[in-house]
Amino acid sequence: MKFFIDTANMEEIKEAYSLGIVAGVTTNPSLVAKEKNVSFPDRLREITDLVPGSVSAEVIALDAEGMIKEGKELAAIAPNITIKVPMTPDGLKAVHAFSKEGIKTNVTLIFSANQALLAARAGATYVSPFLGRLDDIGHNGLDLISTIAEIFAIHDIKTEIIAASIRHPQHVTDSALRGAHIATIPFKVIKQLFNHPLTDKGIEAFLADWNSRS
Ligand code: E4P
Repeated sequence: MKFFIDTANMEEIKEAYSLGIVAGVTTNPSLVAKEKNVSFPDRLREITDLVPGSVSAEVIALDAEGMIKEGKELAAIAPNITIKVPMTPDGLKAVHAFSKEGIKTNVTLIFSANQALLAARAGATYVSPFLGRLDDIGHNGLDLISTIAEIFAIHDIKTEIIAASIRHPQHVTDSALRGAHIATIPFKVIKQLFNHPLTDKGIEAFLADWNSRS
């Protein structure tokens, strides 16, 4: 499983990318809205200048024609832009049009296996099931990852599964076990992945022993 970072914040992207573990970036309108005094295209230029992997940029239009127009403008910013499209009939019409033009797509707001299957058949490069938001309503987001992974394996579907709406480190481990190809993770959770009290304790003990040499 690969790691993407789920943010539009440049400091977070730079810091996470410098760790050598980030293969791509996902943004969404809410994350972009948190970034003040920078236009969306400018921010996408900054991100794609740094990160060579997939950078998801979401369209705002809700009709297929509008999504296609917006998506083409976003895709023209850099070759590694992936157009993020919501899981709706119009969204899938746009995905189909993008796939015919070789533009990569990430179908977002996936909450069922049928939605993932529809998106894959429309030609989506990625589908993004939202774990945390399913857990929030008492469903099991991880079971959805397993179901999608199983269906895609049975039918030899190449669309990749991005585990999204990740809330804590256990979501990351479990997404990997359940067959997600990628987890897109907020910076706060990426930092948590590094931590273990025994690592800190071990470093402290090694240093103390080293410094006590006579
Ligand atoms: C995925 O691409 C989305 O940007 C994201 O993971 C949504 O997460 P949230 O439910 O924490 O907003």
